[in-house]
Amino acid sequence: MPVWFNPARELDALLRKVAPQVAGLDSDFDPELRPSDPRHADFQANGVLAAAKRAKQNPRALATSLLEAVRASGELDESLIVAEVAGPGFINFKLTPVALGAWLKEYRDESKWRAGAAKIMGGKKVVIDYPSPNTAKQMHVGHLRPIVIGEAVARLIEFCGAELIRDNHIGDWGTNFGILILAIRRSGFKLDAKSPTALEDLERLYKEGSVQTKADPAAMDAARAELAKLQTGDAENLKLWEEIVQVSNAACQRIYDQFGLKSDVILGESFYRDKVNQVYTELQKCGLAEESEGALVVWDDEEPRFSRHAETKMPFIVRKKDGSSNYASTDLATLLYRAEHFKAEEIVYVTDGRQQDHFHQLFRTGTRWFNLSQRKLPRLRHVWFGTILGEDGKAIKTKSGDPVRLQSLIDEATERAYAAVTEKSPEIPEPERRMIAQRVGVAALRYVDLASNRTMDYSFSWSKLLAFEGNTAPYLMYAAVRVRSIFRKSGIALGQGEEGASDLETPEEIALARKLLGFTAALDSALEDLRPHHLCTYLHELAAAYGTFYAANSVNDPTLPAATKARRLMLCARTCSILETGLRLLAIEPVERM
Ligand code: ARG
Repeated sequence: MPVWFNPARELDALLRKVAPQVAGLDSDFDPELRPSDPRHADFQANGVLAAAKRAKQNPRALATSLLEAVRASGELDESLIVAEVAGPGFINFKLTPVALGAWLKEYRDESKWRAGAAKIMGGKKVVIDYPSPNTAKQMHVGHLRPIVIGEAVARLIEFCGAELIRDNHIGDWGTNFGILILAIRRSGFKLDAKSPTALEDLERLYKEGSVQTKADPAAMDAARAELAKLQTGDAENLKLWEEIVQVSNAACQRIYDQFGLKSDVILGESFYRDKVNQVYTELQKCGLAEESEGALVVWDDEEPRFSRHAETKMPFIVRKKDGSSNYASTDLATLLYRAEHFKAEEIVYVTDGRQQDHFHQLFRTGTRWFNLSQRKLPRLRHVWFGTILGEDGKAIKTKSGDPVRLQSLIDEATERAYAAVTEKSPEIPEPERRMIAQRVGVAALRYVDLASNRTMDYSFSWSKLLAFEGNTAPYLMYAAVRVRSIFRKSGIALGQGEEGASDLETPEEIALARKLLGFTAALDSALEDLRPHHLCTYLHELAAAYGTFYAANSVNDPTLPAATKARRLMLCARTCSILETGLRLLAIEPVERM
C-alpha cells in the first residue's frame, strides 16, 4: 500500500466513500475529520455524532459500524494507522511510529512533497490577479501587501498542483490619467522618460492636479474631458499616456526585481478598452443593466449594497455618465476574458480590504451575467488584507505626511539586517554579509506581513521585524542554517547517512516526526482560505519542536549506535528541508549561513 502524503485527506475520502454502505449514513455524510489532541490521536472524525442524532441511532454503535465498513474496504493499513471508536462516538486515528518513519522515508524532499500536494488542485486553471498597482505613482508602503501576500498565495496554489497564471492587472486607464494629463498640460511640463526623476515629477504633478480638481468642479470637468479624449483615442493624449505608463512600469519593475516577482502577463485596465462595449451590450440584452441618469447601472435586489452613510441602495455603475468606462466595466470585461481566453476555473483577486464592496458587486453581477448567458462561471475569490499601521497605531506615514516609499523601506530593512548579521557573525566576509543582509532584509519585511492573519491590521515595528527570536524571518532562516551546520560539521551531505535508520523511539523523536507530517495539515489550512499565516505558525512550531528534540537527543555523539544516528540525521534533514521549502513557499530564499 502506498504511504499517504496527507493521511487526513485520505481518511476523509475513505470515510465518505464507505459511508453509504452503513445503515444510517448517506452519500453526503461529512466525517468532520479534525486534528486531535496528540496525546490521544492524530486525527478524529466527529461527524458520526450529528449523523446519529439525525438517524436517531446510538452514536457509538453507528461509529462502530462505520469503522467496520472502513476495515472491510481493505484500504486502511492498520499496522500504520490505528483506528478506534472513542468517547460518545468519535473515531480516533493514530499514526504508529512506524507510519511516521515510513512517511519520512517516502517524502524526503521538495519534489516529493510537490508530487504529494499536486493532487489537491489537480491541474485546475487558476488566474491570480496581483499586485495590480495603479500606475503613475511610486510604490509605497501600501504596495507591500499585495506583492507579498500575492506571491505567497500564488506559490501555495502552484505548489498544490494548480496551473497558474499570474496576471498583473495594472490600473493604467482610470480617472487618475485625466487628472495627470490635465496637470501636465496646465503646467507646460515636458516629460522625459529617461530622466531619473520622471516618476517623482509625475507624482508631484498628480498631487497638484488632485488638489485642483478637488477644489474646483470646472477643473474636474476638464480632467474628465482629458480622460474621455484619451479613452476615445485622441492621438496626443495617447502618446503622453504611453510615456507615463512606460516610466511607471520601469519603476515598478525595479521593485518587483527585489521581491523576485515575475508576472506571466501584464494585462492592465487599458487592455480591455476595446472589450467593454461587449459588456454594455450583453448586460443590457440580458436585462441586467439599465440606464439611470445617463449612466449604465446594475441593480441587485437580492443582495443590495447600501451606502455607508445612508440607507440608500447602491447600484453597480458599469458605465459613467460621460460614456467612459470605469473600474467595474473593466473588471467585468476582464472576468470574461479570463474565463474565455485563459479558460480560468478559478480567479483570485488580491487587494486591500477597502475594495470588498466592489468585489462583492462584481462577483454578484458576474454570477448573474454568466448564468443568464449560459457560461460557466469560474470560482471567484477575493483575498483581501488589512492596513499596515505605524507603531502609534495610526496609518504609517513619513514626517511630512506622505506615504513611506517602498524602496526606502527595503533599503532600511537591508541596512538593519546588515547590522544584525554583522553583530551575530562578524567572521563572515563583508561581501557575503551584504548578500545575506539583502535576503534577510526583504525576507523580514515579507514575513511580518505574512505572519499575521491577512484580514487584520498590524503595527509595523523594526524590532519585531528583525528579531532573531520569535516568529520572525531571521529566526526561521537561522533555524534552517543551524540544522545545515550539523551536516557541514560532520562532513555529510543533507539527506545522506540515513541508510539503516531504526524505528523512531524517544518521545522527542516521535513528537518531531509528527510535527513534520503536520506540514500537510498546514498546507491544507493555508490553502482553504488562502491565508499564508497558517504556514508561518506551522514553521515556527516546527522550529520549536526541533529545538526540543535537539536539546534532548544527541545527533553527533560518537558512541551513538549507527541505526540511531541514521534516524536522527533523517529527522534533521527533513526538518531542514521542510523549513526551507516552507520559507520558499512564502518567497523567502534561505541562506547557507548567517
Ligand atoms: N489597481 C487596483 C488598485 O490599486 C487594484 C486592481 C485589482 N484587480 C482588479 N481586477 N480589480 O486598487
